[in-house]
Amino acid sequence: MEDMNKATAVANPNIAFIKYWGKAHEALNLPANPSLSMNLAGLTTVTTVEFRPGLAADSVVIDGGPAQDQARQRVVAHLDRVRALARTDRRALVASRNDFPAGTGLASSASAFAALSLAASRAAGLVLDEGALSRLARWASGSACRSVVGGFALWEGDDDETSFAHQVAPPSFWDLRDLVAIVGREHKGVGSQQGHGLAATSPLHAARLEAVPGLLARALDAVQGRDLATLGPVVEADALAMHGVMMTSRPSLLYWLPATVAVLQAVRAWRKAGMDVFFTLDAGPNVHCLCEAARADEVEGRLRRVPGVLDVLASGPGGSVRLVDYDLF
Ligand code: DP6
Repeated sequence: MEDMNKATAVANPNIAFIKYWGKAHEALNLPANPSLSMNLAGLTTVTTVEFRPGLAADSVVIDGGPAQDQARQRVVAHLDRVRALARTDRRALVASRNDFPAGTGLASSASAFAALSLAASRAAGLVLDEGALSRLARWASGSACRSVVGGFALWEGDDDETSFAHQVAPPSFWDLRDLVAIVGREHKGVGSQQGHGLAATSPLHAARLEAVPGLLARALDAVQGRDLATLGPVVEADALAMHGVMMTSRPSLLYWLPATVAVLQAVRAWRKAGMDVFFTLDAGPNVHCLCEAARADEVEGRLRRVPGVLDVLASGPGGSVRLVDYDLF
């Protein structure tokens, strides 16, 4: 049985097929455009929250150590949102653990805030429906609203009330694989939180936003038809458009390393030789390669042989955020 004031949740990060880049409202994380993603089963964040009477301050431990500055502030700000919803002023103990290999630059705010949203809301006695939980997670980090619903997730909506994600297909619908080629372990200079604010300084931002509705419609159809040959080119097009916006922002954001380009070229060459594999990238140098399950071992082996690839992380589609009956204390 769960403790009244304590809950533990598990969440997966997600990879966007159509990206969220740029905000219509910064404080509320309303996106400049709708986005579509798949949760990644191979990577998890586990978070326990306990609201304990008499605590003077929140305690936040991430991967075994006290959370520092900004990371701590973001967690405390999210606990404040949950406290406001639950009308409590109790402080909390929070422990969170990621199973991502250390230093891959994959540590994800999406899985972190999806898990924190479910664990904290339950620990505070709130039972939110999926939409409300997705919306709560969005306030902490936009992409986290997609991790809440899991499987293949569409985040759309026009305002604070209606902007959250819903599932367009469960993980069992399509065993699509994502092989992440890790090419850099350094912390990125400009994180996505700051990067969003620069999108509008790029002359390409408006052009990308104009293309998104058409790309999104094709991507949705392709997911619903389990059609990688259609989905893949659309996913590549939007990832490149987003990186075009990043590169042409002022200041310019250039996330690619030489090995990033080596993987992009390799993927294109394999495709030319008849293998269905497609790439996408987030705000970092690592390359996500999408293929069917039957091709995953072959693609992983090939990626490992590309010079500069340090590791490959394999995932299928992951589920929604969920409660578990153990805790991290
Ligand atoms: C490039 O969700 O990290 O991964 O809302 O400020 O927390 P905040 O941003 P975040 O942005 C993710 C950007 C991206 C694209 C995507 O996942 O859609």
